[in-house]
Amino acid sequence: MVERFITEASTYAANVDFVIDLVGALVGFWFFLTVGVFFYLLFRFRHRDGVASEYITGDEKEIKRFISIPHYLIMVCDIFIIVAAIQVWVNVKQQLPPNPYATVRVIGQQWAWSFVHPGPDGKLDTADDIATVDELHVQVNEPYIFELTSRDVLHSFSVPVFRLKQDAVPGRVITGWFEPTQTGTYDIQCAEICGIGHGLMPARIVIESAADHAAWMAGTAPTTLAAVSRDAVVAN
Ligand code: CUA
Repeated sequence: MVERFITEASTYAANVDFVIDLVGALVGFWFFLTVGVFFYLLFRFRHRDGVASEYITGDEKEIKRFISIPHYLIMVCDIFIIVAAIQVWVNVKQQLPPNPYATVRVIGQQWAWSFVHPGPDGKLDTADDIATVDELHVQVNEPYIFELTSRDVLHSFSVPVFRLKQDAVPGRVITGWFEPTQTGTYDIQCAEICGIGHGLMPARIVIESAADHAAWMAGTAPTTLAAVSRDAVVAN
């Protein structure tokens, strides 16, 4: 259902959406059932003249089971959610693709995202690296590893169409992965309050076909992170 509101553009987006749908369906079922029963009882046993109210302690076995049976059924639903969530978690967060196409570096700072692309040789920390601010270029249908860091405070690298969200922590390099499945330009957000400009650090991810991605690399001069970053602004 989530995909009706926002495109699924990574290999694991549908898995994440499945868990969201599952939680929504199971919680929704019990929510509407509970609210329905609640209002039915309110209506059925409403005040009427000449009918004395009944005092129920809730200790009787036949009344207690109205609590215990749904309780056990809800715990069974919990098991379904936990199993589905762990499977997706392991796939998205615990495993990295064995043969990544490339590694990109993602750096959060107040208030921008910087990216380092490996350039035509496919390797980081070489002369043909391409650094950009607020624009990440990737090729469709290829697994990428990202190395996420922060220069100052906590940020969160969020790519909604990928269903990817990962905190950036200063002093740590956090590794993760994604594989884009749709070409197009999509939002990158910061999903962690990181200061007054938090709302001002949106960026874009440009997912390109192999030909378009090669053309972008060919038409973009190699640049270093220092050349594009706003270090000077931050330092002052
Ligand atoms: Cu960076 Cu919010």
